[in-house]
Order: sequence, then C-alpha cells, then structure tokens
Amino acid sequence: MVLYLRLLKFLKPYRVKLFFAMICMSLVAATNGLTAFIVKPVLDKIFFEKNATMLYLIPFGVILLYLIKGVFEYLQAYLMGYVGQKVITDIRNLIFNCLQKQPLSFFDKTPTGVSISRIMNDVTLIQSAVSEAFTAILKDSFTIVGLIGVVFYRDWKLATIAFIILPFAIYPIVAFGKRLRKISTKTQQSVAALTNFLHETITGQRIVKAFSMEKYENKRFQIENESLFRINLKRYKVRALSHPIMEVLGGIAVGVIIWYGGKEVISGNSTPGNFFSFTAGILMLYEPIKRLNRENHNIQQGLAASQRVFEIIDREPEIHDKEDAIQLEKVQGIIEFRDVFFRYEDKMILRDMKLNISKNEVLAVVGESGVGKTTLANLIPRFYDVTEGSIKIDGIDIKDVTLNSLRRNIALVTQDVILFNDSIKNNIAYGVTQDTEMIEKAARMAYAHDFIVKLPKGYDTVVGEKGIRLSGGQKQRIAIARALHKDAPVLILDEATSSLDTASEMEVQKALENLMKGRTTIIIAHRLSTVMNAHRIIVLEGGTIVQEGTHRELIEVDGPYKKLYELQFRETPAKKIIKIGRRMNNA
Ligand SMILES: Nc1ncnc2c1ncn2[C@@H]1O[C@H](COP(=O)(O)OP(=O)(O)O)[C@@H](O)[C@H]1O
Ligand SMILES: [Mg+2]
Repeated sequence: MVLYLRLLKFLKPYRVKLFFAMICMSLVAATNGLTAFIVKPVLDKIFFEKNATMLYLIPFGVILLYLIKGVFEYLQAYLMGYVGQKVITDIRNLIFNCLQKQPLSFFDKTPTGVSISRIMNDVTLIQSAVSEAFTAILKDSFTIVGLIGVVFYRDWKLATIAFIILPFAIYPIVAFGKRLRKISTKTQQSVAALTNFLHETITGQRIVKAFSMEKYENKRFQIENESLFRINLKRYKVRALSHPIMEVLGGIAVGVIIWYGGKEVISGNSTPGNFFSFTAGILMLYEPIKRLNRENHNIQQGLAASQRVFEIIDREPEIHDKEDAIQLEKVQGIIEFRDVFFRYEDKMILRDMKLNISKNEVLAVVGESGVGKTTLANLIPRFYDVTEGSIKIDGIDIKDVTLNSLRRNIALVTQDVILFNDSIKNNIAYGVTQDTEMIEKAARMAYAHDFIVKLPKGYDTVVGEKGIRLSGGQKQRIAIARALHKDAPVLILDEATSSLDTASEMEVQKALENLMKGRTTIIIAHRLSTVMNAHRIIVLEGGTIVQEGTHRELIEVDGPYKKLYELQFRETPAKKIIKIGRRMNNA
C-alpha cells in the first residue's frame, strides 16, 4: 500500500489529464450499463409490442450510445496512455540519474544485466501497474457498479440469487490467478538469468572463441533455455485449464438463471425483455470482474518491480559530496597520502601508505600484478574512499571538496580504453569544450591526428560498438588525446601503453612525454623506458612501499626493484621461461 501510494505520486504532475481520463472512464462505464438496460425496450417494445416509433427511435439510440462510448473510450485510452508513458519516462530518467551517482563499488557488486533490467523491464512492469491497472480498476469498478444497478433494477430476486452463486464462480478465477502469479515470478527470474548469460557470453565472445568453448556455452545456454521452456509450459497448462473450467461454471450459472427466469416469464411475473436485460447485465459483468483479477496480478508484479527500483533510487551513494564541500580550483598538483589504509570488502590492499608527490613530479609505481597499483591510483579521484588515513591535494583533504571539482583536476588514461559509440571528436572532447581547433591540437600531440584524418569521415567518424574498428594503439592514442584535451594538472597513466605493439609504442611514448610535461604524473607501467625516465620510482609489495628512488639508484642495490627489473624488463621471454622453469625444478 505504501509502495502503491509512492508510485501514485509519480502521477501527480499529470493530475489534470488523469482527472479528464477518469471522467471519460465513468462515461464509458455508464454506456456499458445503458447497453444492458436498453435490451428490455428492444425486446418488449419492438419484438413483442411491435411499436413502429420505437423501431426507429431505439436503433438510433443504440447507434448514438456506441458513438458516445467510442469517443470517450478513445479519449480515455489516449489520456491514460500519455500519462503512463510519461510516468515511465520520468522513472527511467530518475533511475539512470541515481545509477550514475553510485560509486564504482556498486558496479563491482551489481551485474550489468541486473542494472539494465531495472531500467528496462522493471519500469515496464511498473507502467502496467500505474496506468493500465489503474485504468482497468477505475473503469471496471464503475462498469460493475452500473451493471449491478441495472441487474437489481430488472429483477432483484434473481439478482440476489445470482450474487449468492457468483462468489463460487469467482473463486477459481482467484485461485488460477495466484498460481499464474507464482509462475510469472519464476519466468521473470529465468528470463533475468538468461539475459545475464547472454550479456556475458556476447561481450565475452573473444574469450569464448579463444578457448573453443562454444560447445560448452551452447550447452549452458540450452540448459537455461530449457528451464525457461518448462516454466512457460506450466503457465500454458494452468491457462489452458482455467478457461474450460470457467466456461463450465458459467454454463451452470446460466442454466440456473434460464430455468428460474424462464419460470418467472411463463408465470407472467416478468417480461422476456426484463429477463434478457437482466441476463445481458450478468453476462457483461463477467469480463470486468475477470479483468479486475488480472489487474490485481499486474499490480502485484508492478509493486514487486517498484520495490527493486526504489532500492536503487533510495540507495545513498557511499561516496558523495559533503554538505559543506568546497569547489577545488585548478590545483598545482601536490599530492599527499597520509597513513592510508584501504580494503575492498574484507581484503586489505594498502597498508599505512605514506607518500608525498610534488608539483610536476613524474612518479612511477611498480610492483607485481595484483599488488594494488590500480587501487592506489583509484583513490585519488575518489573512485573508492580510503578506509583509514587521508589523501590531500594541494594540502586539502579530497573528502572536503566536491567530486566534480576534484575530478576536473585529474586526467586518467587506463589500460582498457573505453570509447563511446560516438564521433572521434566527441570522444576526445568528452566532458570538455567542443572547440575543434583544440581537439585537433590534442590529437596532434597524441600522434593521433594523422590516422584520424585518413578515416572515412575524419574527426566525425563514429567509433565504438557500432562504429569503425580501431587498433589497440589507435584507441590508446585517442584516450591520450582525451586526457591531453582535458588539460588537468594531475595525470594518472595506468598501464596506458600495455596494449601497444612496439611500432606504435614509440609514437605513444612521444605522446605521453607531451602529456606529462608540466603535470604531476602518476605512472603505472611495465615498460622500462617510461619507468626509467620517471623522477622517482616506488615499489609496492604487501600493500606498502618497500623501495623508492630513481632507476639509477634502485638498480644499484639488490632489492625488489632489481628483481622486478630483471624479471619483467630486461629479459627476453625465452630466458624468463627458462629461469622460471629452473626455479620450479628447485622447488
Ligand atoms: N573492485 C574490486 N573489488 C574487490 N577486490 C578487488 C577489486 N579490484 C581489485 N581487487 C583486488 O585488489 C588487489 C589489487 O588489485 P589492483 O589494484 O588492480 O592490482 P594491480 O593494479 O597492482 O595489478 C587484487 O588482489 C585484486 O584482486
Ligand atoms: Mg592494475
């Protein structure tokens, strides 16, 4: 109930339209009652009394009645359709906004398919609860009241009998409804599982193919698909059974009514017109009652969906602006990690990190894979918040400034480049001014201009999912152009050259040098050249800094850096494998 009231709040902006829709509905309901009512004069006046004036009046009245009904039905359906679609558009916008506010940890935990399903499927279910069910309930309730009025007016005794029998006829409708509802929940779950599965295997096609897992995935898909089939089959079974049972029960009721009503007509207590008008009223009651039950189902489904949707809308993002957060102006780029601890859920990744990075310094972070280099970098733009300690930028705690102003000061190039399904121009200018000259300048400095102008539509070429395919190196250079264009004082390069071949690496290397000039740069790399030129290198191990200095200094001593250097940078792959093999033999 609380949920439903909250849903109805979304209708508020459209209350005028809603009001008119309700007036139309009640008029449609009134015409329904009149249709049953008119049966009596039709039969008695035309067919029994053979009244000539009525022969013209009544058909004219019938046509008029249906004309009026048609007009109001159209208006009602249009208005409610408008309101319903507006409401789901509003709710979709709202969920998307709320989703965007969630920190990365939310997306770590929530499968993509689930988030998409909230916006697409659940909202559709809500729509049918707020507009269709709402319409049906109002319209059908009006209709039911009108018809009951007609039925009692025509023959109150027979009506009383009918309403004693009716609940027995309604019971199976309700029972079948419940059963169908349960099945429908299972269908939803099964469809969600299938959607998620599809999302994974389609986005992961490269891996599926590389490991020749097509057969395996086919098998998994077949199993999921089969289970959906079985659930659907059950639904058909219940549905197929419900109709004949309802018909038989209806038949019994009609039989009883004919027997009793016929007796009344024969004995002269009633007229045939009266009897048929009554019967028409009873028969016309069947549909709205059945629909009411079905709409009850829709409402239940919609409520369940709205609960899932409200969970997202109400979710307080763990990372958000403080109430008195200040705007961070363009910083100089002095960064300080003060006794920083960080853990994901329960795994401690960084321990007691102390680190000072000065203005325009190029700092390289090295360490074995999984040691926490990316994590360290993610803390600066507050993708995740430190568990303990603090991070300061120009002496200001990053928790005291707005997320927007903090992130405006940071440019990021990551290992896997994300290009949006948009023109190259817009991809480079993402979130920053659209000045063509500046975009080109950034592209030139990123050594991307030359290949961009050779593309079919130059800077207007669409890339990404549906657009042109670019090589890993080209994508990476566009990402670098994007970072250059942002022109932020702090730059984070997280294995930004990892997907490059040697030829394009040379170019990207030059592009990176352009990028690092006059900025505080944190560079996570496994390429020797980038690391060697850094002003300072820190080595991470066990969640903390174990060594620090320049390449020259670190290479002199026997320590973790030298080991990493020998393992990762200097040796050819063949030598490395031999060495690893030897070590394994020893062990
Ligand atoms: N979103 C996450 N949730 C939970 N654990 C994570 C997450 N991201 C990374 N980790 C874990 O944190 C550790 C450090 O990861 P990361 O910073 O990506 O390492 P690196 O960049 O040095 O290779 C890894 O052990 C990884 O399993
Ligand atoms: Mg990493």
